[in-house]
Amino acid sequence: MDKIRVSLLGSTGMVGQKMIRLLENHPYIELVKLSASDSRIGKKYSETVSWIEQGGIPEKFRDMRLVSSSPEDNRDVDYVLSALPPEAAEPAEIQLVKNGINVISNASPYRLSKDIPLINPELNFEHLRILEGKDTKFVKNPNCTSAIMAMPIGEILGLDYERIFLVSMQAISGAGFTGLPYMSIDDNIIPYIHGEEEKIPAEISKMYGMAENGEINSRKIRMSVTSVRVPVKVGHMGILNVELKSRPDIENLIARIKNFSPLRGFTGLYNAPKHPIVVHDEEDRPQNAIDTYNGMEVHIGRISYNDGNLRMVILGNNLVRGAAGITILTLETMKQMNLI
Ligand SMILES: NC(=O)c1ccc[n+]([C@@H]2O[C@H](COP(=O)([O-])OP(=O)(O)OC[C@H]3O[C@@H](n4cnc5c(N)ncnc54)[C@H](OP(=O)(O)O)[C@@H]3O)[C@@H](O)[C@H]2O)c1
Repeated sequence: MDKIRVSLLGSTGMVGQKMIRLLENHPYIELVKLSASDSRIGKKYSETVSWIEQGGIPEKFRDMRLVSSSPEDNRDVDYVLSALPPEAAEPAEIQLVKNGINVISNASPYRLSKDIPLINPELNFEHLRILEGKDTKFVKNPNCTSAIMAMPIGEILGLDYERIFLVSMQAISGAGFTGLPYMSIDDNIIPYIHGEEEKIPAEISKMYGMAENGEINSRKIRMSVTSVRVPVKVGHMGILNVELKSRPDIENLIARIKNFSPLRGFTGLYNAPKHPIVVHDEEDRPQNAIDTYNGMEVHIGRISYNDGNLRMVILGNNLVRGAAGITILTLETMKQMNLI
């Protein structure tokens, strides 16, 4: 089988390093180019990166020399995977697409454009069909918190709900490698994350939207979000409270969440967990220290109903389910759907 050759923009960052780890031994996606900001172009990856990902730099990437994000440097790959910050991503990705180069991106610009799918594969791989027949494919990943918290929302939309309230407690790595000074987050909680409270409901509404005539029309979801930054390295936790108009069948709801596995019909999805949502019965789970390892799984616990309110606690790895993992799973899914 011919391998899918990819390049990685933003390879020295938090998401980029996780992407390198996940692609190290991939059976059919081959990472052939790495890039970062201009000051690193031409340097060997191992000599310029401040590597933080567990397990050290994979041997095969150590001597790779960094290139730029330009179309000229990325012409000879099948897909560009982008982990650029928004300001750099906006012009660079559009330039690539205008030059006929396929892009899957983690960055926020264009996430809400109707003609660009915003993909969290288990939830909406069908949205990828709007790309059928297009010469150049441009796909976005949702924001890390949106990707994680969206996973059980489908089940809630099937209930008679008034409003969904989410408090997200987000890890430091969500702000990028140099995102937060140590002195501002150590032993502290910051009660505001710029732009997050607007992005999350809008992106979840798009993921649960309808694909019609080559566009995605967002679903109307009544949702309010409060986002805070907490001093943990990895893992975004959300406390979800849903105001319900009638009592749900909790046992049935839990069973449906446990059985959620929409990609089970596909083969060859190396980053698709058998159970994308893991439900914990223990009162003190999920926890960042126990449940936020490298997995694509989203962990849910404390599901209960009391006095008109359904509650659950949701946790996922922001760098895997929230970024690098879904980029790669999206590419795998596109291959299985013959979209590549
Ligand atoms: N962190 C998360 O949990 C997460 C989750 C979902 C989505 N995202 C999104 O994913 C993207 C990457 O996030 P991150 O956390 O990995 O950020 P990061 O740690 O700050 O890494 C940014 C990367 O982009 C490179 N870069 C910066 N400016 C550039 C420019 N002008 N031209 C070319 N390369 C440039 C950096 O290279 P240098 O090292 O050379 O500066 C670095 O490799 C962002 O858009 C972010 O919003 C992040």
